[in-house]
Amino acid sequence: MGITGSIAAYKAAILLRLLTREGADVRVVMTPAAKEFITPVTMSALSGHPVVSEFFASNDGTWHSHVDLGLWADAMVIAPLTAATMGKMAHGIADNMLVTTYLSARCPVFVAPAMDLDMFGHPSTQQNLDILKSYGNIVIEPGEGALASGLHGKGRMEEPERIVELLIASIGSKKKLLNKTFLVTAGPTFEKIDPVRFIGNYSSGKMGFAIASELAEQGARVILVTGPTHLSLSHPMVETIRVESAGEMLEACVEHFGTCDGAVMSAAVADFTPAHPASQKTKRGRDNWSLELKPTTDIAAALGASKREGQVLVGFALETHDELANARKKLAKKNLDLIVLNSLNDPGAGFGTDTNKVTILDRYNNSEEFELKSKASVAADIVEKIITFTGA
Ligand code: CTP
Repeated sequence: MGITGSIAAYKAAILLRLLTREGADVRVVMTPAAKEFITPVTMSALSGHPVVSEFFASNDGTWHSHVDLGLWADAMVIAPLTAATMGKMAHGIADNMLVTTYLSARCPVFVAPAMDLDMFGHPSTQQNLDILKSYGNIVIEPGEGALASGLHGKGRMEEPERIVELLIASIGSKKKLLNKTFLVTAGPTFEKIDPVRFIGNYSSGKMGFAIASELAEQGARVILVTGPTHLSLSHPMVETIRVESAGEMLEACVEHFGTCDGAVMSAAVADFTPAHPASQKTKRGRDNWSLELKPTTDIAAALGASKREGQVLVGFALETHDELANARKKLAKKNLDLIVLNSLNDPGAGFGTDTNKVTILDRYNNSEEFELKSKASVAADIVEKIITFTGA
């Protein structure tokens, strides 16, 4: 557990107590500034271990090994995290024991920022947070409320009870995707015809949201890129990016895929988009209206082309005829590792329903056909396949 110099440091004592009550063995690292807010004596009494703050013990000059601490931990939580330490972590400024420990840690790292609303909203803070996320760190967003400055806004450190819940949810021992990041696409896309009309499709987003939720349940951090849907997913491990068109979805996916261990492409992406969307509403007053459409980029294929060794790419195939053969073709063409086939001929499968019936094929010609089940159970089967495939 890392503590930095914020007024919220007093909550670190409560957090520590809750963690030890859950059976965790906690070692505390404090920045010099943190000690102005809460004493090392409190934290060492609560943890049952000496608190580490300096590189050398002042009494006998013994060296404290940040490497050992970083390797020892199953998880690191830095709460509260100040803007200053955040900046150091983002840029590798290893001038204290906390940052060196952070840089040596191989475990999942959780950070709970705490600061004034303007500091939190500053582009510098937001950029550093994005950098930490790109390293795979899990950001526990601060809440809104009264701040120590007397101002009201976003910047309050998340409550210790909630942080503990999140830690338990994401690093329970049975989790198989700890420290992994997945990109998931979901929902339909809307392709603009003019300011009031679009071309869409019947996808509800349910399958993609169920997969995102299941991946997060297995401990993965998830970046969920979704087209327009009424669904929302409130899970601390899931970051939702809402987009509208195939073009926007492509952009978000390309931006994030590089930092991911895998991607599941469950969105029903438009294959064509109006070639010349009108900037003004198209009026009535003519007989027929022909729209010229141009092809969109195939997002799954684009990611397949840039896929690195070790990244797993999963696609879907929604077919109405020659299902298996078409799915195999798609798997090869898009350089996928797994493809989930659902046939619109199966009752209860496909768009809008709460159930689905799938066959999962892999790139080595194996396939498994599943029963009709709820989309949540299908998501569990898909994630299990991903886990087996990656050997995670
Ligand atoms: N897909 C994508 N980007 C697109 C179109 C499809 O990422 N522009 C992804 C889907 O998310 C799905 C897979 O590709 O994982 C297959 O989608 P599907 O619509 O079945 O296949 P298409 O390649 O569009 O082929 P067709 O419509 O001709 O069957």
